[in-house]
Amino acid sequence: MQAVVFERYGEVAEVREVPDPRPAPHGVTVRVEATGLCRSDWHGWQGHDPDITLPHVPGHELAGVVEAVGDRVTRWRPGDRVTVPFVCACGSCGACAAGDQQVCERQTQPGFTHWGSFAQYVALDHADVNLVAVPEEMSFATAASLGCRFATAFRAVVQQGRVAAGEWVAVHGCGGVGLSAVMIAAASGARVVAVDVSPQALDLARKFGAAQCLDASSTPDTAAAIHALTDGGAHLSLDALGSPTTCAASVNGLRRRGRHIQVGLLPSTSGTTPVPMARAIALELELLGSHGMAAHTYPPMLELVRAGVLRPDLLVTSTIGLDAVPAALAAMGTAPGAGVTVIEPWN
Ligand SMILES: NC(=O)c1ccc[n+]([C@@H]2O[C@H](COP(=O)([O-])OP(=O)(O)OC[C@H]3O[C@@H](n4cnc5c(N)ncnc54)[C@H](O)[C@@H]3O)[C@@H](O)[C@H]2O)c1
Ligand SMILES: [Zn+2]
Ligand SMILES: [Zn+2]
Repeated sequence: MQAVVFERYGEVAEVREVPDPRPAPHGVTVRVEATGLCRSDWHGWQGHDPDITLPHVPGHELAGVVEAVGDRVTRWRPGDRVTVPFVCACGSCGACAAGDQQVCERQTQPGFTHWGSFAQYVALDHADVNLVAVPEEMSFATAASLGCRFATAFRAVVQQGRVAAGEWVAVHGCGGVGLSAVMIAAASGARVVAVDVSPQALDLARKFGAAQCLDASSTPDTAAAIHALTDGGAHLSLDALGSPTTCAASVNGLRRRGRHIQVGLLPSTSGTTPVPMARAIALELELLGSHGMAAHTYPPMLELVRAGVLRPDLLVTSTIGLDAVPAALAAMGTAPGAGVTVIEPWN
């Protein structure tokens, strides 16, 4: 099969022929019909992810058709349309037993712990636990964009963030995760303040329902600006970029008893991130992480997509083939993208 392979961190990847994957006894292989390009892929390519061994094939937001099935798989057969959370759970550890597959103790992640979906086929572990059926009427491109950023944003806003109608929600960083969060929070009846340094990203945020937009590059104190816009601070705030600046701005922009959700990854190479803990005590803030979303919690999100309340398809701003991936991956280091790029490995 054709796949995007890199041999060294930060060195431009190449598209070449590699052996087709074979399914594990509990796993499947999937013919990849669409796969999203996410900032986490860029982090992996930069060497920020300790799970990766070289040479490596990235890609973790995918949808496609089951190609082959291991002999212990009971729920899936070749031809099924599927997607998968980027955290593939083992199904048997303590976290999985508690229903928390998104923080499985023995998780695998395609595109990180093993070769991913920037390829014509990908192997996925523990298929009975992890695969999610894609409805016939949902396109593969839409389904692929659910796998990581949209589902992650859904968990962050709805499950961890417990968003409520009428609340003010601040979203710091309006890339794929942040724009999804803006759309989900607005659809939940919240009023959203979108923060970014890119005018294109803020235009999209407005289109997806943000009531207020803040350009962080020309706002000296983002947290103070949020307090002014929201009559005392956000009820819920997400760092959807992952940086010391956006993390602190998110926490500082909260009102009393507000909830901060850390979604953006804080690369281990940049050391620990200072968090305004004194404020967390004085204002009784909640500071939570959010990590993917378990497959068994997908149905309410899929239902909102089916009903047209949530439109992940609108987040897809470009579609490319495998040949264009090495340059697109490299470009993420310098050019902030607007919206989501989807790769179609067979086109
Ligand atoms: N926790 C999880 O489960 C999970 C899942 C998926 C992605 N992630 C992480 O979430 C983060 C966002 O991913 P993405 O794909 O949306 O990235 P992205 O690159 O598409 O978006 C980041 C956005 O932040 C903006 N930005 C840059 N500097 C800023 C600043 N100072 N203030 C405000 N905005 C600023 C950029 O212009 C861009 O629009 C990444 O760290 C990614 O690895 C985490
Ligand atoms: Zn991702
Ligand atoms: Zn587990």
